[in-house]
Amino acid sequence: MGIRYIEEKKIFKMDTERTTYLIGLSPEGYVGHIYYGKRLMGSGSNYLLRMQEPPYTPSVNMREKAPFLDTFPTEYPTGGIGDYRESCLDVRCESGSIGSELLFRSFRIFKGKEKLEGLPASFGGEDDVETLEIVCEDSILQLRVILSYSVFADCDMITRSARIENAGSQHLKLEKVYSACLDMDNKDFDMLTLPGSWARERCIQRGRIRCGKQMVSSIRGESSHQEHPFIALATPETTQEAGEVYAMNFVYSGNFIAQAELSQFGSVRMLMGIHSDYFCWNLGPGEVFWAPEAVLTYSADGLGRMTRNFHDFYREHIIRSPYKYGKRPVLINNWEATYFDFNSEKLLEIAKEAGKAGIEMLVMDDGWFGKRNCDDNSLGDWTVNEEKITSGLPDLVKKVNELGLKFGIWFEPEMISPDSDLYRAHPDWAIQIKGRRPSQIRAQYVLDLSRPEVVDYAYRCVADILRSAPIAYVKWDMNRQLCDIGSGCLKEDAQGELMHRYMLGVYEMQERLVNEFPDLLLENCSGGGARFDPGMLYYSPQIWCSDDVDAVERLRIQEGTALVYPLASMGAHIGDCPNHVVGRNTPFATRGNVALAGTFGYELDITKIAREEREQIPGQVEMYHKYRELIQRGDYYRLASWSMEKPYDCWEVAAKDKSHALVTFVQVLAQPNMHSRVIYLRGLEEEAEYRLEGTEEVYSGEELMKCGYLVPSCKGDFISFLYHFVRN
Ligand code: GLA
Repeated sequence: MGIRYIEEKKIFKMDTERTTYLIGLSPEGYVGHIYYGKRLMGSGSNYLLRMQEPPYTPSVNMREKAPFLDTFPTEYPTGGIGDYRESCLDVRCESGSIGSELLFRSFRIFKGKEKLEGLPASFGGEDDVETLEIVCEDSILQLRVILSYSVFADCDMITRSARIENAGSQHLKLEKVYSACLDMDNKDFDMLTLPGSWARERCIQRGRIRCGKQMVSSIRGESSHQEHPFIALATPETTQEAGEVYAMNFVYSGNFIAQAELSQFGSVRMLMGIHSDYFCWNLGPGEVFWAPEAVLTYSADGLGRMTRNFHDFYREHIIRSPYKYGKRPVLINNWEATYFDFNSEKLLEIAKEAGKAGIEMLVMDDGWFGKRNCDDNSLGDWTVNEEKITSGLPDLVKKVNELGLKFGIWFEPEMISPDSDLYRAHPDWAIQIKGRRPSQIRAQYVLDLSRPEVVDYAYRCVADILRSAPIAYVKWDMNRQLCDIGSGCLKEDAQGELMHRYMLGVYEMQERLVNEFPDLLLENCSGGGARFDPGMLYYSPQIWCSDDVDAVERLRIQEGTALVYPLASMGAHIGDCPNHVVGRNTPFATRGNVALAGTFGYELDITKIAREEREQIPGQVEMYHKYRELIQRGDYYRLASWSMEKPYDCWEVAAKDKSHALVTFVQVLAQPNMHSRVIYLRGLEEEAEYRLEGTEEVYSGEELMKCGYLVPSCKGDFISFLYHFVRN
């Protein structure tokens, strides 16, 4: 396993446990993509580069160089010189033209992995990961491009990024820099994506790819509710259990593009990177640009394997928080309980009831600062509103702690309200185009985090509050998308850097936060789940999944999210009924069983809910802690999908040592005249016997996986069951 260079064939071979990635060099030094797929035991060869077919490589046939480049499967296509498919790199030189041509110069293979400057990225020790750097050069521009591949053999993951270095004397403009490209032959691929909207994020969509380009993207300044920086190409027969799938995910939280392009010759180019709209980066002599990291995996065993590869990888190599596998307090958040209408007394009432029920942390949401009693003011004025928090924040925290609960707090540090002292003092700190009144969203503007003094101010606001009291948790929100892209401090010709510099500012603030407060539990959030991406996971072990906590809607949202992200990263709460977003009533127990799939909490006024519901809470808290470790560390299997095919939903988490497994079954809609339904468990030991907890029923692992378990038929909608199978 690992990485080898086979000199006589000019081939780089990267092996993970089950996959191989092959790169070959043409005689001229073009860096070609030969193969990615099932593990190859031999060293491989380069016939798939098709250099012996017309139009032949330029060293043999100079008169057809552009047609050659237009068909050659390349690792990192550049724009302007004859490959008409989507490029990864467009460089404008001082003469005003766009064109670059990368040829191989050297390589380096080393154990471990280096950091990406200013960016979130995967990490691993020398035993976990090996890295290949291929150095390419455009000799005319004296531009060096370092293609970096890190191989995480255990989880079948390869990460890619690119570093662009200007070694010449020209002032260059990078008009597009993507992170990864995969040129393959088409296998009638289906493309899977995760589109959505506010309150219905990440719904799985699948459809056959057709000639031309099909893509998902964001130019909203965040990964977004609407589309998601994930793309998978799966062969048509691919199911959870079988079939091939290639997937890419982006370790970045800003603008992105993820695209599949079916060419005239039936080849497919799959790529991912920062969206080139609104992007133009100046690269002066001696300067370096780092493109964010893309994560690639291949599974020959269906979508389930792809999912588990991502889960293992993110848990081991992206999430840094000490809470990754640690106990996370069951929290109660006052947003849907009170919205802006609260004060210390109200919060203490909630905390008191919550403490009695076993809840472990109170989170004070939006509305505690400035003069914020509705959403049209005060963002940026992060001083405690002592009309509401009457005896001050340290005293409130102390009282909540005395009730036995930890204390958490909400911030939206990247924002500025037009009606705020901050805006009155620094109107130029809002992102805006000179001479044009910027558009508001939720009556707010976005801070220009390309300015170091703004980053410092916003960070200081958060840190000062955290320094003032023992605060255990922060919900970091971001409630509007970016537009009117202009900065008062960047020069005219550097305005195209703003959106990426904004992201670097966000990352810098979060990095400072986790360094200064290493024990803080950070939860990222963006108007629900608009920033649920691996970039954010690098800073926070959990992310608010959606503002919709309706148990039925959550089935779809959590299924889509868990297709890629570990269960414990999904912030999942029990809300009140009728649900505030869709108006649906669901049983309290089902709301609990659905929230159990993520990181558990409550989003309701515990002082007002029905007694029968309140009485269920201690049991639910106990249930969460009983299964917490299994959910944080186990293998996730999707057994049935309500959103895709069935009137019920079903998933399983099996312990890695196969000692036990938890199955959640939700009957969304009752059907008349039905037998019991069979579900096929996964991830068990065939020869072992498993007892269904709370019963005398014993099954062999083989039976449960091959013959299945029978879920009794029952009447009623939104009914759910938990089945815990424990090895005898
Ligand atoms: C966003 C969040 C909510 C809540 C509100 C507060 O919408 O997703 O959970 O914090 O902001 O304004």
